[in-house]
Amino acid sequence: MLEIKCIGILTSGGDAPGMNAAIRAVTRTAIYNGFTVKAIMRGYKGLITGEIVPYVTQNVSNIIQQGGTILKTARSKEFTTAEGRQVAYETMQREGIDALVVIGGDGSLTGAKIFASEFNIPIVGLPGTIDNDLNGTDTTIGYDTALNTIMDAVDKIKDTASSHDRLFFIEVMGRNAGFLAINGAIATGAEAAIIPEIATEVDQLSELIESGFRKSKNSSIVLVAESEITGGAMGLAERVKKEYPQYDVRVTILGHIQRGGSPTASDRILASRMGEAAIDALLDGQRNVMIGVQNDELVYIPFNKAIKKGKPINRDLLNTVKILST
Ligand code: F6P
Repeated sequence: MLEIKCIGILTSGGDAPGMNAAIRAVTRTAIYNGFTVKAIMRGYKGLITGEIVPYVTQNVSNIIQQGGTILKTARSKEFTTAEGRQVAYETMQREGIDALVVIGGDGSLTGAKIFASEFNIPIVGLPGTIDNDLNGTDTTIGYDTALNTIMDAVDKIKDTASSHDRLFFIEVMGRNAGFLAINGAIATGAEAAIIPEIATEVDQLSELIESGFRKSKNSSIVLVAESEITGGAMGLAERVKKEYPQYDVRVTILGHIQRGGSPTASDRILASRMGEAAIDALLDGQRNVMIGVQNDELVYIPFNKAIKKGKPINRDLLNTVKILST
């Protein structure tokens, strides 16, 4: 088996708060164990263009509290082609990079899986995404911070909702997953969460809102997960407005505010533990696995399993939203 001397590290896909804490942990654990570290800029794109910087421990000083990623990130189209990956491999050989740590979401880990199998490269992944949509891990780096950002934003919107007796549809991110919407709804005491995993008909939703208004609630908050399946907050609001013109409806799309900001303590700790575990995994001879966390234990999840579509969501949580808002 190839002896690993130099480890390349990259962040790819959407940035997530806590990525910097992970970069710091990977870099420092690698150096502690005698490896050299090379930072690959702008995700897989940097492997193709050769934008690579040797990292020492000072390169990752004072970044644990910063959102975004100091390595920058991109969604590389070229890396999805065999030609692009061949160039990336040649860069790795030229730079003497023997193994990779990839921090990103399902697209990034799918790329890692293909690249690893084509060129027999040891790769370890870290789940870095606000969407929490990777299988085999209870949570992902960035999810807790995004959830807290949603909570802060919705708390503020509730002031206007109650002052004006309005019905607000608030759209949150998550791509095709409803974790941010459902747990955001519980954290803010919202009346409902509309998520792609579980169908909610407009009349069901209207009934829910109606009964709230009947019980002297004058305002309502509905969190809607972005997705073609839910139709998004805008689509849903239009349909409800048509049926219930008496409601004063407003829509807020939280957008990229959810991806930014200083990571919470939970995300910093998770990223730090996972970053250290990524290097331990390589030392252990682990290949092509993502580090996950289950019941506070770090685990190795094969890429295939981690990127499987449709991470199960606890359906009971919708009931929790409903019961607690009656
Ligand atoms: O995967 C993270 C995420 O923020 C999703 O929730 C969202 O659908 C997507 O990225 C947005 O991507 P972009 O920043 O490229 O528009």
